[in-house]
Order: sequence, then C-alpha cells, then structure tokens
Amino acid sequence: MIVRARPSRAIAFVFISLCLYLVYEIGTFCFSASSSLPNLTIPPGRRIQYPFREKGVGGRDEEKADAVRKVMERTWKLYKQKAFGFDEIKPASGGYRNSRNGWGATIVDSMTTTAVMGLSDAFADQYDWVVNHINFDEAKDLVDPFETTIRYLAALVSTVDLLEAGVITPPRPSFRQDILRQARSLADNLGPAFDTPTGMVWPRVNFGTKSGVNDDGRKNKYTRIHLARAGSHWLEYATLSQLTGDNIYLRNATKAWSRLVDSTEREEWPVYHRSPRLIWTGESVGSTRTLGAPDDSYYEYLIKAHLLFPSRASTKRYARRWLQAMTSAQKHLLSVSDTHPIHSFLLSYSKGMYNNKMGHLTCFIGGNLLLGAAYLNRADLLSFGKALVEGCRYSYFSTPSGIGPEEWSWTPRESKRNRAGQPEFFTGPVTAAQEKAWQQTGIWPTQANYNLRPEVVESYFYGWRITGQEKYRAWAWDAFTAIVNATTAEWGYSEVASVMATPASEEERRRNFRDTSESFWSAETLKYLYLTFSEPELCSLDNWVFNTEAHPLRRRI
Ligand SMILES: *[C@@H]1O[C@H](CO)[C@@H](O)[C@H](O)[C@H]1NC(C)=O
Ligand SMILES: *[C@@H]1O[C@H](CO)[C@@H](O)[C@H](O)[C@H]1NC(C)=O
Ligand SMILES: *[C@@H]1O[C@H](CO)[C@@H](O)[C@H](O)[C@H]1NC(C)=O
Repeated sequence: MIVRARPSRAIAFVFISLCLYLVYEIGTFCFSASSSLPNLTIPPGRRIQYPFREKGVGGRDEEKADAVRKVMERTWKLYKQKAFGFDEIKPASGGYRNSRNGWGATIVDSMTTTAVMGLSDAFADQYDWVVNHINFDEAKDLVDPFETTIRYLAALVSTVDLLEAGVITPPRPSFRQDILRQARSLADNLGPAFDTPTGMVWPRVNFGTKSGVNDDGRKNKYTRIHLARAGSHWLEYATLSQLTGDNIYLRNATKAWSRLVDSTEREEWPVYHRSPRLIWTGESVGSTRTLGAPDDSYYEYLIKAHLLFPSRASTKRYARRWLQAMTSAQKHLLSVSDTHPIHSFLLSYSKGMYNNKMGHLTCFIGGNLLLGAAYLNRADLLSFGKALVEGCRYSYFSTPSGIGPEEWSWTPRESKRNRAGQPEFFTGPVTAAQEKAWQQTGIWPTQANYNLRPEVVESYFYGWRITGQEKYRAWAWDAFTAIVNATTAEWGYSEVASVMATPASEEERRRNFRDTSESFWSAETLKYLYLTFSEPELCSLDNWVFNTEAHPLRRRI
C-alpha cells in the first residue's frame, strides 16, 4: 500500500528543515566569529632548529653545497658579463631586461646570497654598485612598493645585519652608514605609498610626482589591494627602524596592516580574512580566502614578525592571529587526493566555492607552518606542515622533468559543501595531456611552466632545519639536479614553458626556454638550496628570520 504524505505535512517538514538549517548556519557563524584569540605559552629561549650539534649529526655536505655554489658563481659571472647594471639577464639569448625600475635588481637581490656563500669578489662588486651607482631618487617607471620592499629594501637591511654578524667581511669600515643611507633613501621615496586614510599602501608610487597611484598611474578611491600588499612591509620596516633608530618606518608598516591584524569584524572563518580590500576604507570587496598568491606573505609575516621581535607585546597578537588563521586553514582548506597513497594539498575558496587548484607559490606554507609549529610547540600544525611539504614534493616527483608545475589540480577525496549546502563540483582534467597525467599520477598541471621559483625548496630547507630528517636533504638534491638539468642555458638558467616536456635532443630542450630569469633565482632558490647543505649553524633559525624574498634578518631576542 502506498501512503501519500499529506501536502500540509510535507510543507511543515520542509519548513522545519529550513529552520534547522538556518539555525545551524547562524550558529556556526556566531560561534566562529572570534573575539578571543588563542593563548600562547612560549618559554623564553625556545629553540626552533633541530639540535644537530648535540646529536652529532647533520654537518655540512661539502660536495652538494659546493655544487650549488658553483651554479651561483656561473649565474653571477654570466650576468656580470652580459647584463651588468640591468635588472635581469635573458639567459637564452644573452640580452637583458629592466623589470624592477632598472636599479640592477639581480645585483642587489643577490647580495645576501653571495654573502652567505662567502663569494667575496662578487659581493665587493655588488657593494660598490649599491653605494656608488644607484640613485633611488629617480625611477623611470612607476615603482611597486611591495616588490621594491621585499627585494631591494630587504636586501639592504639584511646586508647590514649579515655584515654586523660577521657572516662576511665588510669591504669598507663605513659599510653601515653607506648601506643605510641608500636604504633610507629608498624607503623615504616609497613614503607616499602610505598616504591613504587607512595607511594601506597604494599599488604603485610615482617618484616624479611623489604620490601613490594605481597601477595605471591614476588615483581614485576604489583602489583595491590583496592582503600580501598590505602586510609585507612589516619585517623590513621594523628592521630599518631598529637599525636607524627612526620609528617612522615601523609606524607606517604597522598601520598598513592594522586594518587586518587589529580587525574585530566578524568573519565566517576565524581571522581568515576576505580579500581584496579597498585601501581607502579597509573594507573587503571580495570573498577570496587563500594562503596562496595574492594573499600569501600577509600570513607568512604574522608569525615571522613575532619571531623577529618576540618580546614586543604587539607581535604576540600577530602570532595568535597566525595560529588562528592556520587552524582555520587546516579545518576548511586542507584536501587530500583520492590516490594511493594520499597526498595533501590546499584548496582556495572564492564566491562561496572551493577551488581544487594549488600553485607553486602556495608551497611556502609547508615551511611556514613548520617554523611556527616548532616555535609554538604545536604537534598538530607540525603534521599539517609536513603533509603539505610532502604534497608539494609530489608535484615535483610526478612530472617527467622532476620539477613541479606553476599550478596543478587533483581529485579531492573528501566531499566539500559550498555555501548553499550543495556538494561541491570540483574541476577535472580538460585536455588529453591532463587526462593522461591524471591517470598516471592522480594530479595534473593546470599551468605547466616553471619560473625558477623557490617555494618548494624553501619548505625543504625548513623541513631539514626543523626536523633533522635526511629525506628533506634528499628531496632538495633531487629538485636541484632536475632544475639544473632542465633550465641550464647558454647565459644562465631559464624559466621553462613546460615541466611535462620530454626533450629528445638538446635543440628540443632549448625550445622549452622562456628566456627569462627573475632575481629570485639567485636571491632565494639558490640560497635555500645552499643553506640546506651548508653547516646548519649558518643563518640558524634560532637567530634569523627570512623575509619573503629569503633575505635573513637578525632576530632581536
Ligand atoms: C587564556 O588565558 C586566560 C588567563 O590565563 C584565561 O582566562 C583564558 O581562559 C585563556 N583562553 C583560552 C582560549 O585558553
Ligand atoms: C609614512 O606615512 C605617511 C602617511 O601617513 C607618509 O606621508 C610618509 O611619507 C611615510 N613615510 C615613510 C618613511 O614611509
Ligand atoms: C636530464 O633530463 C633528461 C631529459 O629531459 C633526462 O633523460 C635525464 O635523465 C635527466 N638527468 C638528470 C640527472 O636528471
């Protein structure tokens, strides 16, 4: 017998379900909207690095450290020969390119690498360039305050720290004032970036008119920026204030991210901010939540600010924000692949939908998690970090070249629900090549190029220095040999168009070159590789914090 439900009952059922759903949604929203940040308990003098020396393990691997240094020497020699004074060499054709206002980005950005490697002749050339040849009062193009701070300004303040710490012998006794004069000149010229009611930075500065502008050179009140641009001045400016005794830099950088770090606005996910923001009011005008670009280094700097100045009360609040954001990310964005064995990746979230794509840039987060977890003694975040480093390693391991792509996708094992409560439909492979990669490895590239980026080897560096596990050195060596194999060009090391290429001849290998080599190749990728094989006391994580361009800054403990 078939009993037909009476319409009134059916309506009541739907109505009650809807009410329960709404109560649930409102409840989740209210309970997760945070007013209280988690407490921190950090004993003074907490060690971050694995105790290599006490255990009598993990000394310098001379052969591998030397191989990395030789690649740096070759990079420098060819740049000096063909492109000296320009921002970058074009490594396949031997030409040059100005992409960072023509102040010689490769020279300045790689000073801290030659210092750490002890390449004193190269360092002397770089020092001379900085002190005698750069004029930071003039810039041909609009200046990007974010890129300029993390590359140029960070390199300068880090060089002062490295020289004072005796990592390299200063070419002149006047080094401190020589370099700080240039650092201040640059920072003072960047000053108009902060001329907004919120203190959040303009995307560009016009050095000619001394004003903050949009990237098209104009001004309006609807300018928006992503989180990394609001938050990636703090380490550099705090250090510059420390070195010069002038607090204006620290004050401006603190104001630039205070709309975020001091925010009391209710967030669906605890202190995991929506992006982008209007610089005029600080309001969010988007709904993206990601630990990857373009928000990445905001989160990276929350914990690093605390590590740099652990005794300042304000930085404790930053560390608590970091902790809450990371716990939130673990809860909402961690995803595992439906492969055997499983691999861990990070989703992003936008407009109420999850996106099953992860970028090479996001791979910094594994190392950042290990760093914060070691300091805050959080076993849960340590495992989260290790899992993400492994996931990024799999992105390298799974390609024919042994290098990971710029962006990839996977089939998530867990089911996620979007804001409407519907099961999320993830994207799948589209092209025949993606389909083939998916069948063979369970993941597929959505952007197959490799831009000489550091984030994966950066996370291996943290993995090695924090856990002391040899596998991180082995993975770093695999990455190094694969990268050198695919990118070695006549005049340096080149970005490649596809990590999926299987060149049958030298000519085919060269056809993969994009003839570009950004300054982070020598500033970051080679530095992190070198420090993975060097003696672990060199730039120990107990005494140094790396900015997002790998320039080491001395912790003021
Ligand atoms: C943080 O510490 C304070 C004082 O010790 C305590 O009252 C509070 O409950 C703690 N909060 C959390 C979330 O543990
Ligand atoms: C600091 O910020 C103010 C705007 O509040 C700006 O006018 C000034 O140029 C900035 N100075 C530096 C050194 O950043
Ligand atoms: C270098 O690349 C070629 C082809 O891309 C490959 O056959 C070879 O095994 C690689 N060598 C190393 C050391 O990775």
